[in-house]
Amino acid sequence: MAITEQVQSQTLTAFAQDVLQGLSGAPKKLSSKYFYDEQGDKLFQQIMRMPEYYLTDCELEIFKNQKERILQAIGQNHFQLLELGAGDGMKTKVLLRHFLEQGADFQYQPIDISPNVLLELEESLRAELPQLNVKSLPGDYFKVLHELRGDSGQPKVVLFLGANIGNYVLEQARNFLRAVAQELNPGDLLLTGFDLKKDPEVVLRAYNDPAGITAAFNLNLLRRLNRELGANFELQDFKHWETYNPVSGETRSYIVSRKDQHVFIKALNRSFHFEAWEAINVELSKKYSVPELETLAGQAGFSIQQHFFDKNNYFVDSLWRVE
Ligand code: AVJ
Repeated sequence: MAITEQVQSQTLTAFAQDVLQGLSGAPKKLSSKYFYDEQGDKLFQQIMRMPEYYLTDCELEIFKNQKERILQAIGQNHFQLLELGAGDGMKTKVLLRHFLEQGADFQYQPIDISPNVLLELEESLRAELPQLNVKSLPGDYFKVLHELRGDSGQPKVVLFLGANIGNYVLEQARNFLRAVAQELNPGDLLLTGFDLKKDPEVVLRAYNDPAGITAAFNLNLLRRLNRELGANFELQDFKHWETYNPVSGETRSYIVSRKDQHVFIKALNRSFHFEAWEAINVELSKKYSVPELETLAGQAGFSIQQHFFDKNNYFVDSLWRVE
């Protein structure tokens, strides 16, 4: 590595370094975790409200219609309720309200890397569920889980909702879930939301809506590079492209260069070449079959307690127990 590169990589933010790596490799890639700046958050809220994006509606329906069964399956009245990735808590509030009404004794501990997200969530919880005991935990999931090890002696119930697991390929999902199991005790519970394999048409439409909201959400990543790293992407020279492979269940989003072009990124002090129709890999949203997720549970050190499906069998929240 040249001296100038060394000096530069020491001063680059993690974001800039990831972008440098992702755009230097072949095939080019940018991580979907960078979708969520202020604009990206707003666009994702819009995605969750659009009719084609069934995932949020399905999970909300599951919680509304099956909250009693979920609490029964948890099977205890004293527990610590952790959530990996807090979000706006819209769906979780349905469970929280029900658990409180049933007199469950629990503290809700949302874990998120973004302290801002947690502050907003806490504020809305204080307004809507003032009797709820909340302790938000900013930080990396595994660091926080590790610190909580053997904390209260109370059983833990961990929520990992919204099909966020779908951002991992199967092997990464296995490693992630294994690592979660390792930070928990036998008997602790994990409720994970999985999007299920279904009519490919339905899946594809959820990520390629006719109004172009998903396209705007994905292309916002280039806008973010322009804003935060001083890049000069011309958005009209790129297009959103979506695929669904019904064998692997992998839905993949790409940003495709419409022409041969160079883009300069000031923060990296270099330009990147895009061939005509060269694609940047930006997101994976993996869909599961039930047997596939059951195998995954076993491999990660869990046993299946119960599945909670929506009425169309589009989505499942699956409750697992650490072996
Ligand atoms: C928040 C990762 C679950 O993959 O379905 C929605 C993100 N991307 N539309 C998903 C997303 C495009 C979403 N997750």
